Order: sequence, then C-alpha cells, then structure tokens
Amino acid sequence: MNPRSILRRRRSLLLSAAGAAVVLAASVAVAGTAEAASTLGASAAQSGRYFGAAIAAGKLGDSTYTGILTREFNAVTPENEMKWDATEPSQGRFTYTNGDRILNQGLSNGSKVRGHALLWHAQQPSWAQSLSGSALRSAAINHVTQVATHYKGKIYAWDVVNEAFADGGGGGRRDSNLQRTGNDWIEAAFRAAHTADPNAKLCYNDYNTDGVNAKSTGVYTMVRDFKSRGVPIDCVGFQSHLGTGIPGDYQANLQRFADLGVDVQITELDVAQGGNQASIYSSVTRACMAVTRCTGITVWGIRDSDSWRTGENPLLFDNSGNKKAAYTSVLNALNAGGPTVPPTSGPTSPPTSSPTTPPSAGACSASVTLNSWSGGYTATVKVTAGSAAVNGWAVTVNLPAGGAVTNAWNATSTGTSGTVGFANVSYNGQIPAGGSTEFGFQGTGSGPSATPTCRAS
Ligand code: G3I
Repeated sequence: MNPRSILRRRRSLLLSAAGAAVVLAASVAVAGTAEAASTLGASAAQSGRYFGAAIAAGKLGDSTYTGILTREFNAVTPENEMKWDATEPSQGRFTYTNGDRILNQGLSNGSKVRGHALLWHAQQPSWAQSLSGSALRSAAINHVTQVATHYKGKIYAWDVVNEAFADGGGGGRRDSNLQRTGNDWIEAAFRAAHTADPNAKLCYNDYNTDGVNAKSTGVYTMVRDFKSRGVPIDCVGFQSHLGTGIPGDYQANLQRFADLGVDVQITELDVAQGGNQASIYSSVTRACMAVTRCTGITVWGIRDSDSWRTGENPLLFDNSGNKKAAYTSVLNALNAGGPTVPPTSGPTSPPTSSPTTPPSAGACSASVTLNSWSGGYTATVKVTAGSAAVNGWAVTVNLPAGGAVTNAWNATSTGTSGTVGFANVSYNGQIPAGGSTEFGFQGTGSGPSATPTCRAS
C-alpha cells in the first residue's frame, strides 16, 4: 500500500464534497447538556462516549505528549504496536512488550483501549507474506486467537479485520493473500476473536467508507449478512482520514450501519489543514454525537508532528502541543451534547437467562456447509431440533484420512481426526422445536463428505 497515493485518491473524492460540510453541520440536531466539560474525554463521557488518540510506545517518554494524553483522552489505540508484524515477528513467537506498554498506559489512565489490528493485508511479518492457502489461513486464525487471548478482558474493541475492501466502484473485496485463502476468512477471524475474548467488541475497520459509496455499501452488505447469520460482529470503524471536505451523507452513512444493529466508531480521524479544518472536525463530531450508536471518536495522533501525514498538520494540537482551532471546535461539539449511548450496546455475548421451564428433550439433525480451498476448509454445521425442543446436542463428524480439525467455534470439540465430536456450549444447547443453531470448525485436508449425525439430550 502506498499511503500517499491512497490519500491523494481520498482527497480528490472528498474535494468534490467540500461544500457539503456546512449542510451537514446545519442538519444535525443536538441537544444541550447540563455543563460544559473542559477536556475532550470528559466532554465525550457526558453522553457515554469516548474520545481517544492513537499513540506510539516510543513517545511515552515525552512529557509534553503524555501530558496531553492523560489530560485530554479517555481512550487509546496503539498506532502500530498490536499489528501482526509487531506481535508475531516470527511464526509462533509472540512479543507483546510495546503493545503491553500502550495497554498499561491506557488502563492506568482509566481509558478504554482499542486493539488495532488483528488481520490486515499490510504490516504482515515477512513469514506470513510468504504463506498462502491453508497454511496462511491456519496461521492467521492462530494469530487472532493468540493475540486476542493475551489481551482477553482488557480490550474495549478490536479491529479484527482492517481494510479488506477494494477501492473503486465495485464494492468487492481487496485482493490479498488473506482474501485468496477463501472469502470466509473475515468471518473465521471474527469467530476466532469472539471465542478468544467474548467480551471485546469486534469491529470491521476501513477507509474511504465515510460516505455512502460503493465501497461502504460493500461493507454494509457484509455486515448485514454477518448479523443475519450470527457471525459475531459488534461494530464498524470509519477511519475518516479526510482531506479538505467531508461527504454530505457522512452522518446518514453512520446511521445506516447503526440501523443494522452494530455500534459505529470514528477510528482514525485526521483532517488536512486548510481553511475549513476546524469546521470539518466539528461536522464529524456532530455527526457522531447525533447517532445514538456512535460510541466514540479516535484521532490518529496527538500533535501535528506525531502524524503519519507529514506536513499536512492534520491533528488537534500543534507541534508544540498547543490547542488548535480544530480542538476548540471539537470540544464545543462534544459539549453541545447529543443522545446518550445506551449501556446495552455492548459486545455480542451469549444470552445469560434461561427459560424457567426447560423444554423437553427431542431429536435433532445436522447438516454441513463447506468453504474449501486447496489443503483446507471451514465448515458451518447447522443443528436443527425436531418436533420437540432439545436441551443439548452432540454432533459427530467423520473426517477423511489425513485431515484434522484445527479450530472450532460455538461448540466444544473432542478429537481432531477421524471421528470428531462436537457438543453445544452453555449458550446454544437449548433449541426450540423446529429451531436451529450453528457452529463451525476449521480443518486441514478435505472436509467431511457424509452428513453428520446428531444426538439430542
Ligand atoms: O519503527 C521503524 C523504525 O525503526 C525505522 O527506522 C523506520 C524507517 O522507515 O520505520 C519505522 O517503522 C515505521 C512505523 O510506521 C513506525 O513509525 C514504518 O516504516 C511505517 O510503515 C509505519 O507506518 C504506519 C502505517 O500505518 C503503516 O502502514 C504508520 O505509523 C501508522 O500511522 C499507519 O496507520 C494506518 C492504520 O494502521 C490503518 N489505517 C491507515 C493508517 C494510516 O496509514
């Protein structure tokens, strides 16, 4: 990826919508709140939101930097330290030193920590870049599992998959080594992340998806599909690396995703310095404040000198750490208020209540759908109750010789080759009469060719 050329593309797209910022700002209805707070984090917290910054471990010794960080922000994202190349520099050897420094800085300041990013086509370690097919799929899922497990219970939201959609008009997936392992690599990653850390919100994150366009519609269609099939996705991140304009339908785009039942977050906000930098920052903030499920905003750095966009001065503090006009416009927009984020918009979690009268036991059946590639596959197994409800189920699958199960989700597994058993977990054992649930597993070799058997309890 060439960040400069991507930015140039983004900028040309956004220039055409520059005038729309004013329209957007005027159309956002905001409700006043009791008292104005004097920092970004505190003012966002008044409506249940966070205001965060991407930070770098190498800068935590800079007192100007950490002074602004601890004063202003109540969320942090590691700019590079939790990426694949940083956390697994050689296969199976995990290094968390710098990721942990970011985590501990955030937690000790009472901040939320956004994890970024479990899988991405860029910033892969060289060993992963040279893998393909089932070897890469297994390595990727193992990476997700290991890293999400290391940070289990501590991460507010993970960018599970970053930038998997293509630019341009098609609305399809970006070609990458990960994409070539099979179209289901994204859902396999979300399932593995959910298994490893059921309490983290799991996000899909991308750029050039900040308005209604072919790319964002491609993401929208994927999220709608995931929600309909129970793939554990909780949130969508909109990077919002903006030029000198903002799409006129910025807020409407956030809202259409929120209406699918996911949280939305502004994850990497920065805006080219120009005549309207402050008003664009204000428009973005107002849009988030107006969308109930927009849970927070993260800027991609603290001072202009910390930005990846060298020379564009795209952030809220100047090189010396002074507040810019853009800072004031964001603070005012946060203090103008908006609908409070409901506490219920948490991560996907298994239902905790059980019916007072348990249904009686009955029979069940199972069917399997395979997504195969050379040397591996993922299997989705649908378990269906018969004419009576079931309280628990066990499915048996026969695998061809030479293959093995490497990972399972929404079920516990017994054995890895030959005859493999899968049983319900606590939250999906009870199926009403005629109802169904799904679990999945990943394997090497070829998937099962016979219909699995199902035994109800
Ligand atoms: O740490 C090394 C240093 O040791 C070495 O001397 C130097 C020489 O180039 O490189 C340093 O690493 C750089 C790293 O940033 C830390 O500064 C990498 O080369 C450089 O590629 C890397 O850039 C990061 C970029 O992602 C990589 O694609 C930027 O900091 C980071 O802001 C940027 O963040 C991305 C998000 O993750 C995803 N969305 C887009 C966003 C902006 O590109």
